Amino acid sequence: MELVQRPRRLRGSETVRRMVRETRMDKSSLIYPMFVMDGQNIQEEIPSMEGQYRYSVDRMGYELERVAKAGVGSVMLFGIPDVKDECGSQAYAEDGIVQRALREAKRLFPDLYYITDVCMCEYTSHGHCGVLRGSEVDNDATLELLSRIALSHVEAGADMVAPSDMMDGRVRAIREKLDWAGHKNTPIMSYAVKYASAFYGPFRDAADSAPAFGDRRSYQMDFHNSREGVREALLDVGEGADIVMVKPAMAYQDMIAKVREVTNVPVAAYSVSGEYAMVKAAAKMGWIDEDRIISEMAVGAYRAGAQIYLTYFAKELARFMDEGRIG
Ligand code: PBG
Repeated sequence: MELVQRPRRLRGSETVRRMVRETRMDKSSLIYPMFVMDGQNIQEEIPSMEGQYRYSVDRMGYELERVAKAGVGSVMLFGIPDVKDECGSQAYAEDGIVQRALREAKRLFPDLYYITDVCMCEYTSHGHCGVLRGSEVDNDATLELLSRIALSHVEAGADMVAPSDMMDGRVRAIREKLDWAGHKNTPIMSYAVKYASAFYGPFRDAADSAPAFGDRRSYQMDFHNSREGVREALLDVGEGADIVMVKPAMAYQDMIAKVREVTNVPVAAYSVSGEYAMVKAAAKMGWIDEDRIISEMAVGAYRAGAQIYLTYFAKELARFMDEGRIG
């Protein structure tokens, strides 16, 4: 046999396989999303997200401790308020749920890095990501509120803010507001390429944020589109985004690769609630190998070009990296 090229030579042992590994990951690039809610002594499992909980501020510390111990450096906080209204005023209240959670979390674990989701859908009575004019989400009127939310998070201790609403111009509005208040060095991670997706279903149960009427297709992207995603990413970088995110991750790896190519800022990928729920459900049935599926999904995102990965499996992935199973 005159074969010169034998790719199998580099697959012959674990040692050489590791030597030639193309995708290397680090726990420091993982972000763990967490839900905090009003009330006391609450740790409530989210029915469609087994293993994920809603925590009241007084109980959240136990989970933060597990996150820190696992070696995951950052969390993304989502707030679930008791009271919702038309304009989501609890989102920027000084004693709002995220603001209180931040102050307490910073006190307990000052070394963790705290990112906050900046959006209105968990706070509005109608569940849309902005304020309404009639039955339309009013883009420009929403910008002022979003920048107020971002500022109140930063003033409560957020290290980074992550707008997820998909209004046009929100990165610029938030940047201007933060700069005006003297927070020039607080980064913005933009949910830049965010599709209108059924993969967010379990999250909306978790955050009680499903829209009361209509859907999010007038602001989140149509999943048939790719060039539009490039446009969104470039716009956000132009407005001052420090990191751009693609969301969801698993069915959108082409977009991770594209955004990586056309921008020169770090690219994040968010493996969302529906991805988590599918893995959990199939694993519970005994139909898949949970650990290996989690690993392939994560490595797939990094291989596509993500440098940062948001996942409800962050603690598990950190352990797999420690054990040398991936990374
Ligand atoms: C808020 C927001 C959502 C998610 C992150 N931020 C829900 C949505 O846009 O409907 C989804 C996260 C997940 O599904 O894990 N707008």
